Amino acid sequence: MPSVYIKTYGCQMNERDSEAVAAQLVAKGYTLAQSEHVAEVILLNTCSVRDLAEQKALHKMENLAADVRRNRPNVVLGFLGCMAQSRGRELIDRLPNVDLVIGTQKFHRTADYLDDIIAGRRDQVVDVEEEKGSEATLREHLFNGKPADRSVTAFVSIMQGCNQYCTFCIVPYTRGAERSRTITDIVAECRELVGRGAKEITLLGQIVTSYGKRWSSSFSLPGTSPSPDKLKLELQRPGKSAFVQLLEAVNELEGLERIRFTSPHPKGYGDDLVEAYARLPKLCESAHLPLQSGSDRLLKLMHRGYTRERFVGIIEKLRRSKPGIGISTDIIVGFPGETEEDFEQTLSLAREIEFDQAYIFKYSQRRDTPAADMPGQLSTEMKEERNERLLRLVNEIADRNYKKLVGSQTQILVEGLSKKNSARMMGRTRCNKIVVFDGSDRHRSELMDVKITRAGLFTLYGDPAILE
Ligand code: 5AD
Repeated sequence: MPSVYIKTYGCQMNERDSEAVAAQLVAKGYTLAQSEHVAEVILLNTCSVRDLAEQKALHKMENLAADVRRNRPNVVLGFLGCMAQSRGRELIDRLPNVDLVIGTQKFHRTADYLDDIIAGRRDQVVDVEEEKGSEATLREHLFNGKPADRSVTAFVSIMQGCNQYCTFCIVPYTRGAERSRTITDIVAECRELVGRGAKEITLLGQIVTSYGKRWSSSFSLPGTSPSPDKLKLELQRPGKSAFVQLLEAVNELEGLERIRFTSPHPKGYGDDLVEAYARLPKLCESAHLPLQSGSDRLLKLMHRGYTRERFVGIIEKLRRSKPGIGISTDIIVGFPGETEEDFEQTLSLAREIEFDQAYIFKYSQRRDTPAADMPGQLSTEMKEERNERLLRLVNEIADRNYKKLVGSQTQILVEGLSKKNSARMMGRTRCNKIVVFDGSDRHRSELMDVKITRAGLFTLYGDPAILE
């Protein structure tokens, strides 16, 4: 069987989808190639959230297509995921050497389509249709091309799509309408991962705080879910959201040490979720809560559904419940019409909250989104300037706060080799900070206490602690 190489752009959801496609192909007998240079099938799993991500994948495919045309005519090339979904056939018109374009609801069909192409039954395939129940089709895992039993951390997708329609965002168009998998289904997948050695699970969704508002149509598939009535009853417990009930169920899994999730939305961040941090011992003290802007005027234009005050209120409650909780966020600079005052509101909020980490994005016009046509689009220079100012502030604050951790003792889960220095190991604190230390592979997958000896930018260095 041919060898396949999958290159992934974008978010953790995409990483998870690539893992599932890899697992699906390996189950059919494909091998995983070590690099694109030796692969017989090359798939790019794409991201559309900003233009830069699309350009990167397009450029990569142009190079691959030129190489394949000249030197390796039998190699199969394909686009998967978000850009495949939003551009569809246009991609093949532009790059005729591409054989396959598979949208976000069709990942589970990849093996069949590749079979057809390799056997010569079909020349090119474009499939970006919607498919009911697609959110429940991908259950198999494969990590970094290795069997799942070596992986300490795992991603589990709990829902697909988004109904929020933030005016800047392309996701509702690339990932479709929101639909949730059932608790039973998700817990079964988590249990299997734990059985194969996973110690930490991250639950993934575009807006996990909307989990359970709109159910998967796979209710009607026999054997996959409890009956809708039973589930609805189960979820009618007053004051407790479906998402918190899911967290409770995952927290029960024996052998699982840690739970994380991404991303919640400030709009649906209820007190029950704040309280869950105090109640559920496996839920790590870390929250990624996308802010986008510190200006109420912009939050409204963005269609975010919360105010600055509401955002600050959630963070205060979280910190009251779990002092030291790691808080990270996403912020967009240069949204259409953003004035210096609006931007200063974002700066002042960053100063007030002191995020442990903030991912800053320069606004990028996305097709079909309302903000793309809003008046007051900012120049590239203006966006870059604001990006730099905010980045400088976020880094300064993080630097100061990371240094305060020197001398403290903390628990980490050892994930594997340090990315920057393979002579060292890395793990994460419960608050989601990276700790690098001298150790060996035998520490992998261990929960370990370390003493923090030094702090770099967004990285801590530690020594394994000997407990008195
Ligand atoms: N331009 C810039 N950043 C964007 N994001 C989403 N859409 C855009 C866009 N059009 C950012 C948001 C989101 C993160 C995943 O990407 O901050 O939280």
